[in-house]
Amino acid sequence: MIECKGVNDMEEKILTNETVKSAAPDRVIKLQIKDMTKKYDNGDGVEHIDLDIYEGEIVTMLGPSGCGKSTILRTIGGFLDVTSGDIQIDGKSIVNLPPEKRPTAMVFQSYNLWPHMTVYENLAFGLKLRKTPKDEMDREIKRHLEMVGISGMETKYPSQLSGGQQQRVAIARSLLLKPSVLLLDEPFSALDAKIRQQMREEVKKIQSELGITIVFVTHDQEEAMALSHRIVVMNKGKFEQVGTPSEIYDNPASRYVASFIGEMNFIPQADGSTMAVRPEEVFLVKDGEACDMSGTIRTIMLLGHYVETNVQCGENVIKCYVQREDIEGVNVGDKVNLKFAKHHVF
Ligand SMILES: Nc1ncnc2c1ncn2[C@@H]1O[C@H](COP(=O)(O)OP(=O)(O)OP(=O)(O)O)[C@@H](O)[C@H]1O
Ligand SMILES: [Mg+2]
Repeated sequence: MIECKGVNDMEEKILTNETVKSAAPDRVIKLQIKDMTKKYDNGDGVEHIDLDIYEGEIVTMLGPSGCGKSTILRTIGGFLDVTSGDIQIDGKSIVNLPPEKRPTAMVFQSYNLWPHMTVYENLAFGLKLRKTPKDEMDREIKRHLEMVGISGMETKYPSQLSGGQQQRVAIARSLLLKPSVLLLDEPFSALDAKIRQQMREEVKKIQSELGITIVFVTHDQEEAMALSHRIVVMNKGKFEQVGTPSEIYDNPASRYVASFIGEMNFIPQADGSTMAVRPEEVFLVKDGEACDMSGTIRTIMLLGHYVETNVQCGENVIKCYVQREDIEGVNVGDKVNLKFAKHHVF
């Protein structure tokens, strides 16, 4: 029999885990959502939303389909009225202003370029409304196409562009309006993985060059982690957790957040609680060393520089990411002991 140390002995260690500070002390609040509720006639919507977004921040609303991400973005952009509460930019309420009077610009979930207009005409539309002189308009359009990496496409029609190029035009068009807050609603959802990654980099670059504030919406946790200064994890019209990517990954506030972000083993406990352990926090230890669980190796998969192994521990299958050298000589069917470097209890 192998003596295993009870997992509850480790809880203390987790509670002392240092929390990453997200805020520099001198940050300026750009956008404030104050006790905002937006209810549709059928009762769906979002309730009692409070959020401060700082100047120059990329904040991402992350959550499954229907949780209310677009609803929040549309209330900020002015495409939906709030039911109650307030939204302020630079300390001034914007809820009674129409979209074009707000210091915001929005890129919608689906491409919304005008198909019968060339790229130039699409980009010039908003500038013409603002009575921008022609030479300045030409200069600005050229500069913005360069910024989003599609120089020289002025005379093409949207149908002659790839999905990624169309999204770049949509982003350029919103940037031309010089918004102080840019609202991006799942702008890359129709693009393939490689282009998405490229576009993420592009958005980060534009944000740091222009210093604008971005509210980004996605249901892709990897995209949220890669792009954001802070993430708002949403569930059914409410906020579950607001924090930096590392705060949310390292210290998920609820089981919901833990299951939504990254991989997690959930292990039911005798007292009715659930222990949550990330696969990279599980280590194989030698016989005789303190361990948390014991089991039998079910699968071993080499995934490049690390190995994923699944270990059957009673009724639970524990997924572990281990270094290649740590699993050398270990085979499917072998008995192993597992130690958890870190865990959470929900
Ligand atoms: N115009 C509307 N009238 C009534 N209900 C609506 C309307 N728009 C959205 N809803 C409902 O409000 C809830 C939130 O919708 P919302 O579009 O904000 O979700 P979402 O998080 O953006 O989802 P997705 O990831 O699918 O875009 C959903 O239950 C949706 O059915
Ligand atoms: Mg949406």
